[in-house]
Amino acid sequence: MIKKMKSIYVCSECGFESVKWNGICPSCGQGNTMFEEVREKAAKNNSFKAKFDGSNVSQVSIGEIDISDEARYHTGFKELDRVFGGGIVKGSLSLLGGTPGIGKSTLLLQICSHLSKSLKILYVSGEESKRQIKIRASRLGLSGDNLFLMTETNIELIAAEVEFTRPDVLIIDSIQTMNNTESSSLPGSVSQVKECTNVFLKISKSLDITTLMVGHVNKDGAIAGPKVLEHMVDTVLYFEGDSQTSYRILRAVKNRYGSTNELGVFRMDNEGLQEVENPSEMLLSGKPQGISGICVACVMEGSRPILTEVQGLVSSTNFGNPRRMCTGFDYNRMTLILAVLEKRAGYNFSAMDAYINVVGGIKLEEPAADLSVAVSLVSSLKDKIIGDEVMAFGEIGLAGEIRAVPGAEMRIREAQRLGFKKCVIPYHNWKSMSNKEKYGIEIIGVRTVRQAIEEALD
Ligand code: TYD
Ligand code: MG
Repeated sequence: MIKKMKSIYVCSECGFESVKWNGICPSCGQGNTMFEEVREKAAKNNSFKAKFDGSNVSQVSIGEIDISDEARYHTGFKELDRVFGGGIVKGSLSLLGGTPGIGKSTLLLQICSHLSKSLKILYVSGEESKRQIKIRASRLGLSGDNLFLMTETNIELIAAEVEFTRPDVLIIDSIQTMNNTESSSLPGSVSQVKECTNVFLKISKSLDITTLMVGHVNKDGAIAGPKVLEHMVDTVLYFEGDSQTSYRILRAVKNRYGSTNELGVFRMDNEGLQEVENPSEMLLSGKPQGISGICVACVMEGSRPILTEVQGLVSSTNFGNPRRMCTGFDYNRMTLILAVLEKRAGYNFSAMDAYINVVGGIKLEEPAADLSVAVSLVSSLKDKIIGDEVMAFGEIGLAGEIRAVPGAEMRIREAQRLGFKKCVIPYHNWKSMSNKEKYGIEIIGVRTVRQAIEEALD
């Protein structure tokens, strides 16, 4: 029988399918992302084939399901284990995304070397030769007799070999290089990536093999290929970093087995990736001294307080409309803070450009960062320096009040550890703290944003 083929257009960003080509994808609005794919026409058949006679019941009571063997593998990196929610869950399928050269392959190789002490690992690379991987491993001083390398992109061969050798952990570097020869679309295309992920999903779940896949990232920073990839896997991690600095941040954007608030910090040096246990120290290491507009904020990343530097710059506007710009902080939140400062505290920003920059690639998503943003903006406006040993946190309300935030004591402890001498905190947090002297630092509870600024700029 001759199979009928049809041509469809698929968006490489979001996976939207259409029978006709569009310059701009109607679903995600990206330009020039629709590519042609040829598919077999599915035979029309709407009736269900499966027959149910009562003897093949597959549902079970949730109480009867045995989870006593839920095992987690420790990767040798505490930072990574925490992002995974306490180690990689056995039999899970994870996706690690990041821009080229950020260190994905290096991280995986280092994990493999640690895991291979007790587990059998298969590292499948579609990008590098075995020799290249070996050279890198020996440069990093890694070894492992239980670490097997395979350079292959044909997914059927990989699946067959995995089924035969049954490794405990399977690494796929990267999912975009894998291809299914049965499929008519090109390697790296949306449907190929989807199909290949599906195959690894089946392997991982049916054979209970822990699988880690590398996914390339497009220019917008999302994992290239459709969003459906993120729905199919258990965990999606992003490896981010600045090409200028050696610091790398690993965060979970999806985790079926843990929180997505956790964040891991690494440093890339000659011996590969090293974990950074004190990210606050790292983030504050380059803090300029004696300059206005610089305030230290404290945000909770999951269970951990992180101190980071917020830089504000206010300068007079050259054009009619004042500019506002934010890096690492929400733009709308900044406009709101400026409005509160103007209305409730009497600082005039209407003819001023205002910029906020959060150092180290950290994103301040917590309202507790509001106060440090306000203080740094006023500090720059008035050109008054904030003391080096001052840290401020608190949420700003529209009435100009400073509202309480969770985890105040943990934040203060972190500030104390790093040698800060003064913390400006919300009054209600201050009131509920029992023994304030034990920290050995000056703790000031403030009710309004005006009061907070007076204390911080003192
Ligand atoms: P790699 O893991 O190949 O990146 P990816 O797989 O995400 O594309 O990382 C390569 C980069 O890391 C390269 O630019 C050099 C740097 N690097 C170091 O600085 N030190 C090292 O020990 C290693 C192995 C790599
Ligand atoms: Mg790589």
